Amino acid sequence: MILYIHLLHKQPGNNMKLFYCNLSLVLATAAGFTIQTGNINKYNSISTALYAGNPNPVFPVQYAPVAASPAISSNTNRRPIVAGNWKLNPATKAEAIELLNGLKAGGVHDSEVVIFPPLPYLSDALTILAGTGINVGAQNAGSNTKGAFTGEIAPSMLASSGCSHVLLGHSERRSLFGESDSSINERVQACLAEASLNVVLCVGETLEEYEIGLLKSVVDTQLRKGLAGVSADDLLMGRVVIAYEPVWAIGTGLVATPNQAQAAHVAIRDTLLSMYTNPEVASKMRIQYGGSVSPDSVKDLMAMPDVDGALVGGASLIPDSFLKIIQGSWN
Ligand code: PGA
Repeated sequence: MILYIHLLHKQPGNNMKLFYCNLSLVLATAAGFTIQTGNINKYNSISTALYAGNPNPVFPVQYAPVAASPAISSNTNRRPIVAGNWKLNPATKAEAIELLNGLKAGGVHDSEVVIFPPLPYLSDALTILAGTGINVGAQNAGSNTKGAFTGEIAPSMLASSGCSHVLLGHSERRSLFGESDSSINERVQACLAEASLNVVLCVGETLEEYEIGLLKSVVDTQLRKGLAGVSADDLLMGRVVIAYEPVWAIGTGLVATPNQAQAAHVAIRDTLLSMYTNPEVASKMRIQYGGSVSPDSVKDLMAMPDVDGALVGGASLIPDSFLKIIQGSWN
């Protein structure tokens, strides 16, 4: 069934896709699969729906437990880092303030914590979270420093407003807003030119790429292009965190297995090992997993030796869930 569905991705045109999707829905339901329609609407992807609807999803590409290369020191203490990506939520400032107060009530945390609210809420976030140790970042930044670029935000504006982090290269920026690896790289360099800004750089493969075994090559390319020109010194200072986010896991409720996340994170360290002559870069890099992380899944993911934190979307909008994920990242 999964092979048949995979072929549907190749159908040209949305109408044809929709027709075949509907037909497949009928067949899949008859075959006993539980279908999650929300996922189908979001991705027009039956494969995602089948995996997510199945209590024991069988992934077409399996990953055995893997360890990082022996060249990478295993005793580097990487402080866990949990980040909340609010995306285009919540709809009003009043709701944002309620959410911020909920986070403030959670106090100070052992793991490093960053939240990425929408720009209009940044100053409220900085005020309300002052003293909690929770960092505040922006969900994107432009690469221009000033001038006639209507709608753009310069890294210096974020830095001088008190932001400490910028999220760059999120898959929604890549797929919905056409950001390429080279434009993401320009943003990375522009943000790092601001001494007080740190970057969370997102990488990850789509479902189709995952299914045909392209995870490692996709992530390798995104890293080489996204980090082009970034110095080993900046990385050794911890100014960049990599967020591995398989696109098929984002917002779908379908979290990667710990072994899948571990394999991807090892692949990321391997790329860093070949990009930088100093192996400490690969050893010290903190790599978050992102994609449907919840209080239930965080501990098993964090138990993997190369998973250093989580980038959380939906669950970061519920203070209780986000606080549990932060706790789970440490314990
Ligand atoms: P999710 O989003 O946790 O809702 O899957 C993660 C992200 O997009 O960063």
